[in-house]
Amino acid sequence: MGTPAKQGKPVTLSIDGFEVTVPEGTSVMRAAAEAGMQIPKLCATDSLDAFGSCRLCVVEIEGRRGTPASCTTPVHPGMVVHTQSEKVRRIRKGVMELYISDHPLDCLTCAANGDCELQDMAGAVGLRDVRYEAPENAPLANHFEARNTSGATNPQWLPKDDSNPYFTYDPSKCIVCSRCVRACEEVQGTFALTIQGRGFDSRVSPGMAADDFLSSDCVSCGACVQACPTATLQEKSVIELGTPDRSVVTTCAYCGVGCSFKAE
Ligand code: FES
Repeated sequence: MGTPAKQGKPVTLSIDGFEVTVPEGTSVMRAAAEAGMQIPKLCATDSLDAFGSCRLCVVEIEGRRGTPASCTTPVHPGMVVHTQSEKVRRIRKGVMELYISDHPLDCLTCAANGDCELQDMAGAVGLRDVRYEAPENAPLANHFEARNTSGATNPQWLPKDDSNPYFTYDPSKCIVCSRCVRACEEVQGTFALTIQGRGFDSRVSPGMAADDFLSSDCVSCGACVQACPTATLQEKSVIELGTPDRSVVTTCAYCGVGCSFKAE
């Protein structure tokens, strides 16, 4: 959704037949949210700059070709936006199908079960079946047996990184939304994370020169863990004790800088 627009000239547009007025520079996604309409999303958050990588938030805009990402599209006066047309629903379902085709199907035993945005979005777009097979033609049911075969670089086959004392990194669950990379840069200013590889091989990496999180420039601030929409980056305490049943505003438990990071 991107960070909120600074106060600008009011702009009035139509979203799904409702007239909405927001400051100039606001994204279509944020304008819809302010009118109570939630557009499915995976890579956008309230606090990070919009990135436009997951393509789940596509919308139709009258007079404009294609289906732009609503998180990176600014509002214009008189714009007429459709967020629930047959075309965008079909595209979103197709996008989710591709994500799930390359994701472990262990939701019932996953530490993020019930608190996973990928799970939420699959439900939001009405995904029931996945027509595609996993990489290297491995049937989805065989994902787990197929992991860790020698020489493979696909994240589905890479082992978990348990080196950090506070959190784990499981590349098989990464959807490469880059929220962790952007949180590391925008929230913490550390630039410890990057995206490495292409296509099915792409994954979050704690720097090309580091073997694992512990030997990287990571300062264990936890911003990446907070930003992760799946169980890719998980607090060890959550894995051991389960998902917290309430939210508090607290000083970050990791570095003690006192930045009042909001734990959810
Ligand atoms: Fe807009 Fe991901 S939320 S492209």
